Amino acid sequence: MTAEDMYSEMILDLYRNPRNKGSLENAKIKARDVNPSCGDIIEINVNVNGESIKEIRFSGKGCAISQASTELLLESVKGKNLVEVKNINKEQVLEMLGIPVSAFRLKCALLGLKVLKLGVYNYLGEKMEEEYGN
Ligand code: FES
Repeated sequence: MTAEDMYSEMILDLYRNPRNKGSLENAKIKARDVNPSCGDIIEINVNVNGESIKEIRFSGKGCAISQASTELLLESVKGKNLVEVKNINKEQVLEMLGIPVSAFRLKCALLGLKVLKLGVYNYLGEKMEEEYGN
């Protein structure tokens, strides 16, 4: 089995057996956005403890790449400070996925990051300058 096969297995497993799906009652941060290429939507709910992420869940539907990358992202930000979340870059998310992602699939892979950052920036009363394409 090649490393790429292993990552593909992991992606399918996260897609079929999501760990962080759902919503949070009274979430302090709620954000949603759509992948303009396919119309799929992801919503992320976050509860914070001071400025750290206490609980985080996502809902919505999409392809395996979008769901797996959101799972990996959410897993990686638990307990993190919101400023650290603002600093996560696209490459880090693609690295977590571990497989080459085509230009078309980039929006799938980065949808979770876009939604999470939108929520965090909004919560902090700041404007997100980063572009994710439309
Ligand atoms: Fe819709 Fe990937 S095809 S999110």
